[in-house]
Amino acid sequence: MEVVIHPDSGAVARTTADIVQGRLEQGHAALGLATGSTPLGAYRELIRRHRQEGLSFARAQAFTLDEYLGLPPEHLGSYRSVIRREFTDSVDFPDRAVHSLDGHAPDPVAEAARYEAAIAAAGGIDVQILGIGTDGHIGFNEPMSSLASRTRIKTLTEQTRRDNARFFPAPEDVPHHVLTQGLATIRDARHLLLIGLGEAKAEAIAAAVEGPLAAACPASSLQLHPHTTVLVDQAAASRLQHREYYEYTLAQKPDWQAY
Ligand code: GLP
Repeated sequence: MEVVIHPDSGAVARTTADIVQGRLEQGHAALGLATGSTPLGAYRELIRRHRQEGLSFARAQAFTLDEYLGLPPEHLGSYRSVIRREFTDSVDFPDRAVHSLDGHAPDPVAEAARYEAAIAAAGGIDVQILGIGTDGHIGFNEPMSSLASRTRIKTLTEQTRRDNARFFPAPEDVPHHVLTQGLATIRDARHLLLIGLGEAKAEAIAAAVEGPLAAACPASSLQLHPHTTVLVDQAAASRLQHREYYEYTLAQKPDWQAY
């Protein structure tokens, strides 16, 4: 894992956008998009570059990570709606190239299999953006998720339901069940960007980066991936034991070495 500690969330957003832009400029790209508040700065920066600098997504595809079960696709809280509202509708992504899980599918098990096949048919995901839950979840892989898991149904913890209640009219409206890419599905992406912002994520980031590889912290499974970049602000880095080493490494990073 390469741990990159930036002074603030704006710098994290710009580095995330740089990495995505670099991949887009290589040609057809499949981007894995997280929802939640963490990646919003990066999405705003990519929208700005699209409008002011001509950055194009016309040849890209996007795959969201997860979805609430039981919400119709047009529901304002569905991740299918959120990713369009917050990002893809504001750039030149063709709508048909923005893929998501259907939380209203009559057969969620078949829907999970369809999604795995769609990712494979796109040639896999090139760059996967990830936030992290306060309990260390990525996507909606809650603690004790199998490190070998594929896309499937999960039950949310009460903590995650509370954390996400701000996106719903009332706390009881947060669904109990979700569809999510599995931990092994996520690790199939070629480059993983794990973003942590703010003090509330400090403990989860420390467990993911420096804790034991354990299902108790699903994000720790990224330690198995050969190309994970962890992008954090000062507050989210505050519990890292080896912080000085990460800062030293970044300061010594050769100009020729990309993220
Ligand atoms: C949700 C999403 C995750 C996201 C997490 C953190 O549970 N399924 O993909 O990383 O929330 O959200 P936030 O970025 O709003 O803190």
